[in-house]
Amino acid sequence: MRKAICLEYVSLTCVLVILVCSGEAHKVQKVTEPYGLSEGPHWNHRTQKLYFVDIYNQYIRRLDTATGVVTSAYIEHGPVGVVVPVEDSYDKLVAGSGTDLILVTWDGDTNEEKAPFEVLTSIESDNDTRVNDGKVDSSGRFWIGTMGNEVNGQVAPDLGSLYRINDTLKPITEISPVSISNGLAWNIQDNTFYYIDSPTHKIAAYDYDPINGTISNKRIVFDLNKINMKGIPDGMTIDTNGNLWIALFGGHHVIHVNPKTQELLRKIKIPAENITSVAFGGPHLDILYVTTSGYGLTAHQRKQTPHAGAVFAVKGLGVRGTLANSFIMNTKQ
Ligand SMILES: *[C@@H]1O[C@H](CO)[C@@H](O)[C@H](O)[C@H]1NC(C)=O
Ligand SMILES: *[C@@H]1O[C@H](CO)[C@@H](O)[C@H](O)[C@H]1NC(C)=O
Ligand SMILES: *[C@@H]1O[C@H](CO)[C@@H](O)[C@H](O)[C@H]1NC(C)=O
Ligand SMILES: *[C@@H]1O[C@H](CO)[C@@H](O)[C@H](O)[C@H]1NC(C)=O
Repeated sequence: MRKAICLEYVSLTCVLVILVCSGEAHKVQKVTEPYGLSEGPHWNHRTQKLYFVDIYNQYIRRLDTATGVVTSAYIEHGPVGVVVPVEDSYDKLVAGSGTDLILVTWDGDTNEEKAPFEVLTSIESDNDTRVNDGKVDSSGRFWIGTMGNEVNGQVAPDLGSLYRINDTLKPITEISPVSISNGLAWNIQDNTFYYIDSPTHKIAAYDYDPINGTISNKRIVFDLNKINMKGIPDGMTIDTNGNLWIALFGGHHVIHVNPKTQELLRKIKIPAENITSVAFGGPHLDILYVTTSGYGLTAHQRKQTPHAGAVFAVKGLGVRGTLANSFIMNTKQ
């Protein structure tokens, strides 16, 4: 059907039609102001809002995509690496802040200058790391990673780990050591886990057992050293076809990758250099929300890259994401 329509118009707008037919007629739109290190987008399908963090400014932010309004909650507890809602709650969120897992109370409707929180558990106890990216699995367990603190823009290797935390709130080490624990994704069949330790430039896959939450049989499914693109892999998500969407920090692009064939399917240019993460959202889960960093820029650099730190929406990709899970907490303890 699509092909037939294309052929008719070939002589008119050849290029445009070819783009449409190959699914490349996407549109990139800036949907927030530029912030600092925007990261960890999470689409809450229950409330139809996009949560993300602004790591070093220590904010949890919430975008109402229907109105464009962003509200923010300041967390007085160190850098905020990741946030997810608590299942069956309207005003509880769990976040990784500093080296702790914290429970934040915030309904998201108004700005909060000092959001109330309590520490649930300490994930790591030394001072040279902080929590970075994380995601919740289909059983409500939080997979949350750490990385060495940045010192003069450098991150010492092998100080981080990836942990799994269930409702008993005791972190279990899953992968260690890692340098910069980043993107995570499970396929829709829930039998494969994908993971990024950024400085490796590689995407790893593991067999995943959804019942006991264990991973095994590590293999590399994509190696950025083998493609001609700048940047390191950062946040990641997956579509219902089982293909990965990966943010390239320092690379101006999000890439679309088939982990089964190791093929680079598409590259989506974003008007910022440091692309930090991606998540599908919108009522049909077909809008790719992209976070970027504008952290530590001088006033001069800010002028040159006015969008750095903003969130973007990419529409028209022709694929859908999977639902993001919320953390399941035992509220009776
Ligand atoms: C960690 O940092 C805090 C505050 O800077 C300090 O009080 C504490 O002694 C440090 N702990 C370690 C183990 O270095
Ligand atoms: C949660 O994790 C603990 C310790 O890792 C384990 O003993 C317990 O069985 C787990 N609980 C559930 C409900 O999976
Ligand atoms: C996880 O569960 C599977 C069965 O679903 C079992 O075969 C396997 O031994 C379990 N692994 C661990 C580490 O408990
Ligand atoms: C991107 O990140 C690098 C490394 O942290 C930094 O040097 C550069 O200034 C950043 N660029 C922008 C536009 O934020």
